[in-house]
Amino acid sequence: MATVALKDVTKVFPDGTVAVDRTNLDVASGEFMVLLGPSGCGKSTMLRMIAGLEDPTSGAVLLDGETANDLPPRERGVAMVFQDFALYPHMSVGDNIGFPLKLSGVEPGPRADQVGEVASALGIGDVLPRRPKQLSGGQRQRVAMGRAIVRRPRLFLMDEPLSNLDSGLRAELRAEISGLVHEMGVTTVYVTHDQAEALTMADRVAIMRKGVLQDVGTPTEVYGRPATLYVAAFLGSPRMNLLESQVYVHLDRHVALHIGDQTLYLPWNDLRSRAVAHYHGERIVVGMRAEALTPVTPDTQGDVLRGRIRYLEHHGHESLAFLDIGATAIVVDEMGSAPISSGINTNGLRKFFSRLGTAGRVPQDTGPNDNRSTRPGTSAQHVLSEPGRHHRRPAELAVRLAPYPAVTNGHPLTVSIRMDQLHFFDERGQRIDVGWR
Ligand SMILES: Nc1ncnc2c1ncn2[C@@H]1O[C@H](COP(=O)(O)OP(=O)(O)OP(=O)(O)O)[C@@H](O)[C@H]1O
Ligand SMILES: [Mg+2]
Repeated sequence: MATVALKDVTKVFPDGTVAVDRTNLDVASGEFMVLLGPSGCGKSTMLRMIAGLEDPTSGAVLLDGETANDLPPRERGVAMVFQDFALYPHMSVGDNIGFPLKLSGVEPGPRADQVGEVASALGIGDVLPRRPKQLSGGQRQRVAMGRAIVRRPRLFLMDEPLSNLDSGLRAELRAEISGLVHEMGVTTVYVTHDQAEALTMADRVAIMRKGVLQDVGTPTEVYGRPATLYVAAFLGSPRMNLLESQVYVHLDRHVALHIGDQTLYLPWNDLRSRAVAHYHGERIVVGMRAEALTPVTPDTQGDVLRGRIRYLEHHGHESLAFLDIGATAIVVDEMGSAPISSGINTNGLRKFFSRLGTAGRVPQDTGPNDNRSTRPGTSAQHVLSEPGRHHRRPAELAVRLAPYPAVTNGHPLTVSIRMDQLHFFDERGQRIDVGWR
């Protein structure tokens, strides 16, 4: 099947919007590549350039190693599925799927055979005589997929094909789609802003921010060792805890990470301590996902952080405690509509309540470090050098607890830290690590 390569591709729209900025990306033959990023980051523009529906301002799009910049869309052998796929309402399901074959002159007999084959692969073999309006949303999406597949393209381009469907159906269809295209072996570029969709479906994920590619890797790589603070914050639910930390090196012993008035020690025999040691006397960001934190008894010593529960969130299968640990968190802005699995944006709610002046159960961020009301980039308290991209506020350390725990707000909690699962980022938001991608 086909390979795709983008070489230094930039797209500037006539109004000056830079939608895609000097992007390089290689998609291997038969690979399922997911483009992930918040609304407006340039995902669709990138896909449309691969399809030939949009011309790059500079750079080259290569298909199977050949420059395709001047190749019209119909000669690229690509099939595209959109979010708002349009089916012909006056045609049956079978005619909808078979339409591309009819256009390319395939006789009715073989056409019916191919349509039947594709429809049964998609589980819609029994609704071929119906009209689109007599189908459910999921069935309609399968018809759109069928219409794309039936021509046996060498490349699939899918632009948020599931985002109009309810969450149950999405989960079901994402397994089906990735299974189907893997089975067919067709190279696929799939666009989504849903990190769960990306992590479950992709062979590799390319994460974009404002037209700039941030990181490319397998789901395990980008989740386990995110290249930037942005990627770290974008992937995972609950979001990774990102704490401001002062680095202090005790040669041959350890690197001390001061987090508020608590300290974690990275032992000198941990290779990463050599990389972190370069930041002696400086502030860095220490990232820890909830899975690196385990509640322990208060007398536990060693790699622990202590705090008090600010508030609890119950998710049925688990509860999340948000701890005040007397530290400062770095908040990455422009996360856009990246969904949080709970579906409830508690930060937004808390801001809303604090504006109303009704604190209630919803805590307000009024600590001395809370400069959220300050215009980004104008505060002397800013530790990270990219104005408008990050801000600081009192940390609320997200910790997983068993469902409906017997603790309440204000309760002290000690958590042990898996030091080998910590992530480190410099003031530009770049990963600090040794010997990695
Ligand atoms: N024809 C156009 N003229 C000017 N600007 C455009 C045009 N099309 C897209 N843009 C801008 O380019 C940027 C990237 O748009 P694009 O549609 O690629 O984003 P996206 O990542 O697909 O977002 P979404 O998730 O909302 O679909 C946005 O700022 C958008 O407003
Ligand atoms: Mg889009």
